[in-house]
Amino acid sequence: MIDAQTLAVVVTAIEQITPLIKHFQMTAADGGALPAFSGGSHIIVVMRGGSRIHRNPYSLLSSPHHLDSYEIGVRRMEESRGGSHFMHDQVRVGTPLEIAHPVNLFSLDKIARKHVLIAGGIGITPFLAQLEDLHDGAVPYELHYSVRSPEHAAFLGRLRAREGERVHMYYDSENQAVDFDGLLSAQPLGTHVYVCGPAGLINRVTATAREWGWPDSHIHWEQFAAPPVGEAFDVFLARSQLAVHVPPDQSLMESIEAAGVEVPYLCRGGVCGFCQTRVLESGGELLHNDHYLSEADRAKGNCIMPCVSRARGSKLVLDL
Ligand code: FES
Repeated sequence: MIDAQTLAVVVTAIEQITPLIKHFQMTAADGGALPAFSGGSHIIVVMRGGSRIHRNPYSLLSSPHHLDSYEIGVRRMEESRGGSHFMHDQVRVGTPLEIAHPVNLFSLDKIARKHVLIAGGIGITPFLAQLEDLHDGAVPYELHYSVRSPEHAAFLGRLRAREGERVHMYYDSENQAVDFDGLLSAQPLGTHVYVCGPAGLINRVTATAREWGWPDSHIHWEQFAAPPVGEAFDVFLARSQLAVHVPPDQSLMESIEAAGVEVPYLCRGGVCGFCQTRVLESGGELLHNDHYLSEADRAKGNCIMPCVSRARGSKLVLDL
């Protein structure tokens, strides 16, 4: 069965580009053009493996100006609950897939006077598409890209060929690191900074920018949290009058969907806030894993983001 809102695509090329990252290209199953998108957009790939359905977000890295195909990069996650292993081990050239329409939660600011892009590892992917929009040269930009060693530098050949000296590389293996204070203390007024990669990198960049007085409106970041595994728990959906069991390796959202109840979503990675759900009763602890709720929201204990968050204890009742 295909979800009503998804697009049918076929994988047309796969390349292992680093020891951990595979590059996938896909085209529309009907051979037509794919929906338009802008740099920074992501899609959700629906993976139907066995009795489980995974829906994982991946940034589009192909050019927004060429809609004959989409490209994504998938990093094999050691702690994967199945999604990245499915893409790496089961998807072949010719495999049909379903994807959700592109959504952009990480777009370039249209009135920025300069863009500073900072990527760590697989976090390079949204910038590859954004760079396509920056090539006209109207707004200056620079890219700072950190990886653990040269063999892990995904898409570097493409970047070097197109961006030349605008790409600044940093290899952990050679003890190279971005000088965040130097970089963020000396930018012209109106500069926007964008960061995508591991949580440590995002926290460092956003904290340093704030220390140097950057307004929050000029600091952009994206990190899709993978739903973590955890202890099993039970939830009751009050409006649907359904009891749902959440196993250790399935997210709360996936378990609710498997029970036939839809939860609205855009990112499935704890970023967009779209899945925010009211908690009507909780006899235990809410384990918030999202990047959306504030500490004050969390302290109230009356909402949860089911795409990534879990619960411990008994009597979790949701307004679904
Ligand atoms: S779907 Fe985006 S935060 Fe849950």
